Amino acid sequence: MTSRTKGLTLSLAKIPLLVDSPAGYLVALRQKLAEQYGDWPGRSAIVREIGRTSKKRATRWTEWSSGANRSRWNRIIIQQLVDREWLDSEYNELDSLIDFIDPSRNLAGAKHVLVAGAGLCRIADPLCISSVDSVTCTDLSWEMLYFGRELLAGRHRNLPTEFGGPRLFFEIENGRFKKKTRRLAFGEPSTRISRSKIRFAVTDAFAIDRSLEKNVLVAPYLLDAFTGDECETLLIRLGQQLGLGQSIVIVMSLTAGRLPDVVVRGLRATGFDVDTLKLHPNLPYSFSRVDFGFVRQERATILVRATKTRLPVAKKIRLSLNLSPSFVAELKRTKMRAVGVDGSGAPSELSSTERNYLLAASESANCAQFAEQLSPRAVSADVTETALACLTSKGLLRLSGMS
Ligand SMILES: C[S@@+](CC[C@H](N)C(=O)[O-])C[C@H]1O[C@@H](n2cnc3c(N)ncnc32)[C@H](O)[C@@H]1O
Repeated sequence: MTSRTKGLTLSLAKIPLLVDSPAGYLVALRQKLAEQYGDWPGRSAIVREIGRTSKKRATRWTEWSSGANRSRWNRIIIQQLVDREWLDSEYNELDSLIDFIDPSRNLAGAKHVLVAGAGLCRIADPLCISSVDSVTCTDLSWEMLYFGRELLAGRHRNLPTEFGGPRLFFEIENGRFKKKTRRLAFGEPSTRISRSKIRFAVTDAFAIDRSLEKNVLVAPYLLDAFTGDECETLLIRLGQQLGLGQSIVIVMSLTAGRLPDVVVRGLRATGFDVDTLKLHPNLPYSFSRVDFGFVRQERATILVRATKTRLPVAKKIRLSLNLSPSFVAELKRTKMRAVGVDGSGAPSELSSTERNYLLAASESANCAQFAEQLSPRAVSADVTETALACLTSKGLLRLSGMS
């Protein structure tokens, strides 16, 4: 178990849980593991460790807000991602992604690379170019990082058996579908040298733990998990969490609700200059693959690399609460903390800090006003950052960048 300053941070299987409420995270994770996976060799040790670490009963709000359920990925999607990244066959789609990312060029000069939304982490291996000292894989899903770490180390036996099981393929022969099952091998794990550079941490991309070192943040398909306002909010948050001189590399496929100019606008609003903009008209993309009748799907994909050269102009980043006006009115009028806060079915006990942040946000049209509301005398960038991390990671606040 890792324990940090406030004594609140836990880790599971040596992967730190750098989230708001790690105890709540573990309670939700235990339930997810029980519901979604059958037995597997590593499972009972993990469940025992969760039992030892999370004795305290978490509230439904802390379970939800800690993020274990918000990473949205279930076993079926995770299994598809194992296929996409880890099966060693002509169906592997990682190589063309890595060619597109071009690490020797886009990570040039970086010592510490942080991957946000790393999923099953195979990408960490090719990002470990010789000039890089560490690649930290982060994700909101503990189980993806854990499975990824085991795959990187070649410990395939520690995974749910269905991940390595035979796959069903359909081929057409003489005008008829023919079913074929094939067992596919896992890809080569990373070498000892690159493995020693790879670290893992559960953290929310809206609220990246500040102890994690980074010169370059790589977000491979992270934004694909979000659309519309949420996508723009995350982009602005990623930009806000980097310092001057730090860079970001975003890879995102283009579908409805995720338009390329959002990326450039969001980055400009948070003080970045774009160094590289690339479009690949048909990069393999299989998150939506439903069976193995399709070899693979391809999508137009963009890569944007940008460096932070200016501090963002806080009054140009607009805020809007993702709450109904009647909820906000009630929040101001009473001391209430227990009212449904969004449509997602999340439970609704706000902490008093969250309530204060919400009240400040409700009086502010942009980030500059929000900062003044939070600390009227000395506007502290730190307080504002904490409040933005807290509210955006829980989906209570949206950000947008004015061009
Ligand atoms: C579309 S997948 C991409 C995974 C991987 N990068 C790849 O290319 O296969 C999006 C990833 O983002 C993670 N994710 C979703 N919401 C997140 C959040 N708020 N913070 C961090 N990771 C998140 C998911 O768990 C998932 O691993």
